[in-house]
Amino acid sequence: MSVNQEEIIDRRTGKKTIVFTIHTAHTTYQMMADPYGYLLHLYYGRRAEGTADYLLQYLDHGFSGNPGIAGDDRVYSLDALPQELPFEGSSDYRSPALVVEDGNGTRSVDLHFESCSIRDGKYHLDGLPAVYEEQDDRAQTLEIVLADPCLRLKAHLLYGVLPELDIITRGLILENHGTQQLHLDKVLPASIDFLSGSWDLITFHGKHAGERMLQRTPVGTIGQTIGSRRGTSSHQYNPLLILADRSATEAQGLCYAMEFVYSGGFTAGAEQDPFGTTRMQMGIAETDFRYPLAPGRCFTAPEVIMTCSGEGLTKLSQNLHRCVRDHVCRGKYAHAPRPILLNSWEACYMNITRENLLKLADEAKDLGLDLLVVDDGWFGRREDDRSSLGDWTANRQKLGGTLGDLIREVNSRGLKFGIWVEPEMISEDSDLYRSHPDWALRIPGREPVRSRDQLVLDLTRADVVDYLWKALCSILDEGPVEYLKWDYNRSISDVFSHRAKDQGSVLYDYMLGLYDLLERLNQRYPDLLIEGCSGGGGRFDAGMLYYTPQIWCSDNTDAVNRLAIQYGTSFGYPVSCISAHVSAVPNEQNGRVTPLFTRGITAMYGSFGYEMDPGKLSPGEKDEIRSQVRTYREMERLITQGSYYRLTSPFTDSVSAWSFVSEDQKEVLVHAVILDIDGNPGPHCLRLAGLNHGAVYRDTRTDIAYPSDYLIAIGIPVPAGHGDWQGLQIHLVQEET
Ligand code: GLA
Repeated sequence: MSVNQEEIIDRRTGKKTIVFTIHTAHTTYQMMADPYGYLLHLYYGRRAEGTADYLLQYLDHGFSGNPGIAGDDRVYSLDALPQELPFEGSSDYRSPALVVEDGNGTRSVDLHFESCSIRDGKYHLDGLPAVYEEQDDRAQTLEIVLADPCLRLKAHLLYGVLPELDIITRGLILENHGTQQLHLDKVLPASIDFLSGSWDLITFHGKHAGERMLQRTPVGTIGQTIGSRRGTSSHQYNPLLILADRSATEAQGLCYAMEFVYSGGFTAGAEQDPFGTTRMQMGIAETDFRYPLAPGRCFTAPEVIMTCSGEGLTKLSQNLHRCVRDHVCRGKYAHAPRPILLNSWEACYMNITRENLLKLADEAKDLGLDLLVVDDGWFGRREDDRSSLGDWTANRQKLGGTLGDLIREVNSRGLKFGIWVEPEMISEDSDLYRSHPDWALRIPGREPVRSRDQLVLDLTRADVVDYLWKALCSILDEGPVEYLKWDYNRSISDVFSHRAKDQGSVLYDYMLGLYDLLERLNQRYPDLLIEGCSGGGGRFDAGMLYYTPQIWCSDNTDAVNRLAIQYGTSFGYPVSCISAHVSAVPNEQNGRVTPLFTRGITAMYGSFGYEMDPGKLSPGEKDEIRSQVRTYREMERLITQGSYYRLTSPFTDSVSAWSFVSEDQKEVLVHAVILDIDGNPGPHCLRLAGLNHGAVYRDTRTDIAYPSDYLIAIGIPVPAGHGDWQGLQIHLVQEET
């Protein structure tokens, strides 16, 4: 059993307490419902037996109040004890995970243990994406119910345990059992207090065309909070937080991750209190959030995935990779090879015509690709980005016929067909806006905030979601559309819905509307591959990955910039989710010229494709692309289903290198890009990881054999680069003994 509960006698009071312990293969998580009924956090870390209750120390700290139930017990303060779900009003002045306002505007909660249950299988969350496990004997759920008798509020704390993956998820459902209207002002489903340790916080910040840049900073008594107030998970910070022992590296040290299964705004952070306890938290952004909880209603918070590694950051990431790839992504394409595609965007932008699309299709076929994606510009009167979002009917003039005609013509060339949409948006210059101005989020009486000249549709409304559902079905029913690129090109502002009684519900309800729409599409078109996108990787999160098993990683297709973007992304997300394309040089975003080989291996980082006009390539370049396509097909399984290793960092090393290792560790694919070149270079070796010890691996291209222990200890020789940004691909297979 991975979850158990046990009654023990409290060392201090001699009264009964209940200890809850969750064991995974390598970790242990422990809590205690103490004699006052408060749920305290005892431990999360490397697997441990026994009970950690002795760690609780009771000291009169001064200015740390004592909750009413503790009477004159002056050494009992929630301000100084590690907690499982800290709430406002408890006398804990650190950052609360739950703030609730009652009918009088008072913000005070007092939650005590009421009941618990342990069951087989992983819980589900109504209307929200969540980690799943189809086999009930491979997962468990622990549910602890806390209740506030005054507010008549119940909090259901859900723990989903995937023991083999070292994954524990946290869910939180709040129920109003009383008769007064409540408001939820802050809901963070995950909060952990670490009693000791010296920590670094690792976060991933960014911008459009520069997502998920790693930042590592020491945690101190100055709280560090990241998040997104944009109504979307955002380019600016990714909803992934890592707390790592200060000495932790890729290969050793204790570290923890929290990853939000939600695509809306979020907040996350860590702070050390004056007594050395570090609180790590993640949940819904507080901005514009004031969710009404009417009598009899419940609120389901989005889930947080947690994992812990005692063996460094690589293992931490691999736990998340397995969880997201095998227990978040769903449908045929969670594991099936993805089509290699040619996308029209950087080839023609909005100058889409039947003629140039069919030229691209011919070129794609000639290069051995699988699918043509018609990107933006095919619908309404879309000549530029100022109009037509919302009018999802084909521009027959541009396409030279119906969408169905175009699909047939592409299919007749032996290619699959894919198309771009941006369903959540509306242009003021659109028929949709002219007939339904109230369908856009905008504040009555104010000029709206425009971004890329577009507004956001009010997805809290069922009629808007139904309109989009019908519009999308009519596109997808025009013919065999096998891939849909789902874009989202602005942040939310002007949070006002004509339908909402309480505007504090809009941002969360928007996400429910979006997830409902995506779920319906997944159900009706189970074989459709949906790729998420938001100006590149502006909504790269586990919530979207539940519906779209791959996401366009960045609008920046420069191979060198992509090294850093993909490196950061790899901390929380499996490469199978990362969509990466080879584009033309000079690069469209930064003008850099990189070798085609380097662009190829950099894009063989998950879901592979091209984003260029192949008509402009030389015969030699076309041959090289054909060979890339063959290589990718051969290596696709190893790349997308193997274990991923960061061998170096593009931020600090002169060679940026990573590898994919098969499950039996007998096959390894190493990719590297030389970042820094020297006029008189010394010998350089690249240390490998994940190999079987005491074995011999042979390079399948050069036939050189290497003893694995040396590859691990010292590395494989890397030739000095000659010329900018040389790439390297090494394929090793273990020799049979
Ligand atoms: C976003 C996407 C691009 C492209 C354009 C089209 O920026 O990230 O890949 O689809 O929109 O407008």
